[in-house]
Amino acid sequence: MKAIVYERYGSPDVLHLTEMAKPVPGDREVLIQVHATTVNSGDWRVRSLEVPAGFGLMARLALGVFRPRQPILGTELAGEIEAVGKDVKAFKPGDQIFAFSGVRMGCHVEYKTMPEDGPLTIKPKNLSYEEAASLSFGGTTALDFFRRGNIKRGDKVLINGASGAVGTAAIQLARYFGAEVTGVCSAANLDLVRSLGADRVIDYTKEDFTESGETYDIIMDTAGTAQFSRCKKALKKGGRLLQVLGSLPDLLQIPWVSLTSSKKVIGGPSAERLEDLRFLAELAEAGKLKPVIDRRYPFEQIIDAHRYVDTGRKRGSVVIALGSASAAI
Ligand SMILES: NC(=O)c1ccc[n+]([C@@H]2O[C@H](COP(=O)([O-])OP(=O)(O)OC[C@H]3O[C@@H](n4cnc5c(N)ncnc54)[C@H](OP(=O)(O)O)[C@@H]3O)[C@@H](O)[C@H]2O)c1
Repeated sequence: MKAIVYERYGSPDVLHLTEMAKPVPGDREVLIQVHATTVNSGDWRVRSLEVPAGFGLMARLALGVFRPRQPILGTELAGEIEAVGKDVKAFKPGDQIFAFSGVRMGCHVEYKTMPEDGPLTIKPKNLSYEEAASLSFGGTTALDFFRRGNIKRGDKVLINGASGAVGTAAIQLARYFGAEVTGVCSAANLDLVRSLGADRVIDYTKEDFTESGETYDIIMDTAGTAQFSRCKKALKKGGRLLQVLGSLPDLLQIPWVSLTSSKKVIGGPSAERLEDLRFLAELAEAGKLKPVIDRRYPFEQIIDAHRYVDTGRKRGSVVIALGSASAAI
């Protein structure tokens, strides 16, 4: 089977297409034929080791000091179960599924094995493989941060960086939870952010939301520009700053903020839960969560997809199509 691999950290040029043996599922594993995957900000960071300030050493220790321990990137996929191990009960050949391998990665392949109780679930019927592959990275991140931030009906929520994979999911989830939503993005993305349900939009090139006098119960920062020192006056009493993108110094100040203020900063990596995938699938099937796809690339052009994601300007997800799906691009 074909796989995209890399043996050293760096620019998209470190990636190359290779042939490797098709995996064989173990007794309690399923074999998935991958129809769609994505290139996202996680792939960019892991490939390039461009991580937020202070996390460089930790990233090398976690991913491989001199070279990547996991040579295959890709956190999300959607596809069809081709075969199952002899003890598998939850899935059968022909099932259409989507999966989130998260930090374990390994989705940039034609075939992948996963444990039957791993992070995979049935694909919503109303979504294409490409849409289903785009559900989990942004969706699970936004959901986990909102849960930790105790989002409630009626909360005033601002999302800084509302047009990326996390932001586009966050707007829709915040609306689902009954919040009043303000999205911050550049002028080119104002219509997109509005169309996803934002009650108000702010163009960050024209207006600084921290200076407007408006206050919020929750500020979610996916852009790394809303540090606590900058946006504390835009948080209500008891307000929460959800730092999806924060540096090590940002993370280290969290206990101090809690001790000295009624406000809270919540950061760190988001949790990866199977229940969250199932919840996102339910919302998508009910038409309450729509994955946003910016661009599509065939598997063989994945390096171009990485180059685009590296710009930091994508809207929602960048999808990679495999097999017959890629012929349609
Ligand atoms: N903590 C965690 O567990 C976790 C999980 C997932 C992701 N992350 C991190 O979260 C960040 C966002 O992820 P993503 O996948 O959503 O990224 P993405 O899809 O690449 O989103 C990039 C978006 O950021 C916007 N942006 C850039 N500069 C901005 C600014 N100054 N103000 C507001 N928006 C700005 C861009 O919109 P414009 O073109 O309109 O500027 C673009 O749409 C990444 O750095 C990622 O590493 C963390």
